[in-house]
Order: sequence, then C-alpha cells, then structure tokens
Amino acid sequence: MENPNIIRVGDLDFPQRKVWMKTYGCQMNYHDSERILSHLSKLNFTATDVEADADLLIFNTCAIRDLANQKFYSHLGETKHIASKKDVVIAAGGCIAQTEGKDLVKKYKQLDFAFGTDVIDNIGEMVYRVYAGDRKFSVTTWDRSEDYSIETKITHGSPQAFVNIIKGCDKFCSYCIVPFTRGREKSRRLDEVVKDVQRLVEYSGVQEITLLGQNVNSYGKDNGESLAQLLGELEKIDGLELIRYTTSHPYDVSDELVAAHGSLKKLANHLHLPVQSGSNTVLQRMLREYTVEHYLGLVEKMRKANPNIVISSDIIAGFPNETEEEHQDTLKLLRAARYDFIYAYSFSARKGTKAARIDDVLTEDIRGRRLREIMDLQNEIQAEIRKTMEGQTYRMLVVEKGSFKGESKWTGRTSCNRLVHFTPKDESDMLWHWVDVKVTSATTFSCQGELLADFGKKAARV
Ligand code: SAH
Ligand code: SF4
Ligand code: F3S
Repeated sequence: MENPNIIRVGDLDFPQRKVWMKTYGCQMNYHDSERILSHLSKLNFTATDVEADADLLIFNTCAIRDLANQKFYSHLGETKHIASKKDVVIAAGGCIAQTEGKDLVKKYKQLDFAFGTDVIDNIGEMVYRVYAGDRKFSVTTWDRSEDYSIETKITHGSPQAFVNIIKGCDKFCSYCIVPFTRGREKSRRLDEVVKDVQRLVEYSGVQEITLLGQNVNSYGKDNGESLAQLLGELEKIDGLELIRYTTSHPYDVSDELVAAHGSLKKLANHLHLPVQSGSNTVLQRMLREYTVEHYLGLVEKMRKANPNIVISSDIIAGFPNETEEEHQDTLKLLRAARYDFIYAYSFSARKGTKAARIDDVLTEDIRGRRLREIMDLQNEIQAEIRKTMEGQTYRMLVVEKGSFKGESKWTGRTSCNRLVHFTPKDESDMLWHWVDVKVTSATTFSCQGELLADFGKKAARV
C-alpha cells in the first residue's frame, strides 16, 4: 500500500516536511518567496513560522544597503546552533546569493546551497539534489531564453496578489546594486499577463493586483508593448477591482500612462514615483536621466489627470560628496512635491557600483543629520496632508486585525494606499471585506476611522 503521507519523486521518497523562510527586501523578493513555497509544496513541504520546527531553512536575501546584508549574515550565523542539534537543510537565495553564492557556501559550514534570482523556478530540483546527497553547491546562472514566461503562483488565499510583469533592470543608477543582482530587463508578453490575471480572478478569488518590476515603466519595450496598454487590458477583467503597480522610474513615464491614470477606474489612486534627490547635479551623478523640473512636471500632470492621486517617493540622503546646497535642494523638492509618504535612506556604498568608486568626503554623521532633516520635514508635510483626510469617507479592503491601546480594531488599505484603523460593529470576521470608513482622526503615522458600511467579500466598485 502506498503511504498517502509520502510523495515519491524520481528515486526518492518525500515525507511531510516543514520549510521556514525568511524574506528580506522588496516586494519582488516576497513574490519570489511565494513562488518558492509553491514549488516546494510539490515535494511535500508545508510552511512553518517556527524556525526550530523546520527541516529546511531558506533565506531570501536583499543586497540593497549594507544593513540588509548584515542582518542576513548575522541570522545565518545563528543557524549554526540549530544545525548542530538536528539534521536541517539550509539554503540562501535572492540578491546576496546571486553575487556571493559561492563564497557564502564556502564560508558558512552549515549552508547547504545557494541560489540566485533567476533560478527560482528550479528550487524543486535543487532541494531534490540535496536530499539525494549532494550538498555545498551554488546555482547563480542567468536564464538565457528569449521569452520571459511564467505563471503567477500564490499560496496565501488572500484576494491580493503580486504579479510580476518585468524582471531585471537596465538603468544602472550609479548607486544601485539591483542591475547586478537581478540581471537584464525582460518583460512577459501582454497576452500572457492578462490570461494570468484572468485565471487569478476566476479561480483564486483575487480582486486586487500589484504589477511588479524594478522599473515597470520599461514594461514591454522588448516586445513593442507598454504598461499603459497592459493596464487598459486589465481594466476590462470582470471581478478585478483594484490595480497597483510598482516601481516606476520617472524617465519612462509616458503620456499614455499619465492619461491612463485619468481614465482607468480600477487603477489605484496612488503612485510611487521615486525621485532620489532634489538636486539636478546629484541626479546627474546618480545617472537618473531626468531633472527636478521634469520630475515636478510629471507630478503635476499626474495630479491633473487624477486629482485624487497621492504620490510617494524614495530619497537617498548623503550621496557621495553631496554639498549642503544640494541637500537643501532635496528639502525644497519635498516642499514642492508634497508626498504622502517617503522612504528615505542614508547612502550605502555597494561594491561593484559606480558610486562606490567615488572618493567621498561625507561622514556618516553628516549623512545621518541630513536623513533626519529629510524625515523631520516630511513628517511635518505628512501631518498636514493627512489632516485633510479627516471627515472623508474611503472605500477600503480590510487587510488585518490588530490591537490599539488594548482595543481590538480592523485595518483597511485605501485605494490611495493609506492604512485606516476602525472599531468593528461586532465580533464577526471582517478580513478581506470591502468597507466604507469615515476618517475621524489622522496624524503623520496613523489614521483612525468609523465604519459606515460593510459590503462583505465582493466589492462594490472602488
Ligand atoms: N527600482 C526602484 C528601486 C529599487 S531599490 C527604483 O528605481 O525606484 C529601492 C530604493 O532603495 C531606491 O529607490 C533607493 O532610494 C534605495 N537605494 C538603492 N540603492 C541604494 C544605496 N546604495 N544606498 C541607499 N539607498 C539605496
Ligand atoms: Fe536600481 Fe535604478 Fe534600477 Fe531602480 S532603476 S532598480 S534604483 S538601477
Ligand atoms: Fe533588495 Fe534585491 Fe529587492 S537587492 S530591494 S531584494 S531586488
């Protein structure tokens, strides 16, 4: 009799096992992790949050700033203790593994294998290899096929899904490691993405998608297609309610895309449009290919096309040799752009990038002070912007339950990407319900609201 708890693959039996994953970095990495879990389920793995219970530990790493690397190295170091107590397989994938895979496997005794960003779909074979007795290897090859063709895999059962539409990045901004860890740009075909999303909506109950890419505005260039075109097609899918995309590079934002923000009803009222700096000379040294004037012009066009749009951004504080005046220009830009929120980071030199080779006179103290000034100003602006939310009603998808000052509340995400907390009417489970909530108080970091209507799990148009 066959044991129903064992899956036979090739020459090996796979009993039920547990995999623990730690994901660092951007949404792309989270999307990859989900893909990995889905592949591993075919080898009888189920996910666990408890590291000590797992048979397989996978780190999906990020190399964007030194801090991300350090967090991973220290966590990987700690796994030595787990590995000394039980027979556990340990793997590292993602952006650090792409460039350092071989060295990691050599340096960390407990690490069984490393894999890069372009071999995610071969994870099953790699894990098979380990259980067949082969350990200490590193797979970091690039996929050389002409087409980039995948099917989105989700395991979470929520109505929100990430859908990758383009991989890699050809921009080579002078500070950025991503083109080295993610390789060259390659887009999926428009038809394939549309069918993929139709399937997610029809069979997996997905209602909100986030199209992913390092630079989604380059989408389709290799195939004579475009992001604006793709959004137009996705808009037609019945049952799909909300479309987001990230991340945009300002250089590639087309007039069609601006127009799409005006005409498409399902496109979210939010755009993340990283500027990085408010100084033209720094932008030049960053190799960003646009000026502050061009950027602010784009912001204005977007706001004209969709008056409800809220815009967010990324800023790097203390790019090598940034002068005080150049830094002040960034503060000026914050006042002009009036972002809904920003991610601001202190510059971190990444080995192999052009910016890392600059002879830099700035100290970490200067960078830290500039970062604080950027955040302080943004927090002031943000408080003003958020205050205007008070009294307004937002349609939102309820995404989690939390506790605030001992009181149990639900949290929803608006189309404009803000989180609003509200008190439920009763004990019923409201997860993934669409609701209307009126904002009663809004500060820089937190919005509280009052529930007006609960539409259940099927949305009335956002
Ligand atoms: N593809 C996206 C961003 C990917 S990285 C884009 O082009 O906008 C996310 C953010 O990390 C960047 O926008 C940038 O602000 C920041 N970042 C990238 N490299 C960095 C570095 N070396 N030091 C500090 N911040 C960095
Ligand atoms: Fe990095 Fe620039 Fe590419 Fe964004 S566009 S991933 S910042 S190189
Ligand atoms: Fe990090 Fe790689 Fe994303 S470096 S930010 S995980 S593309």
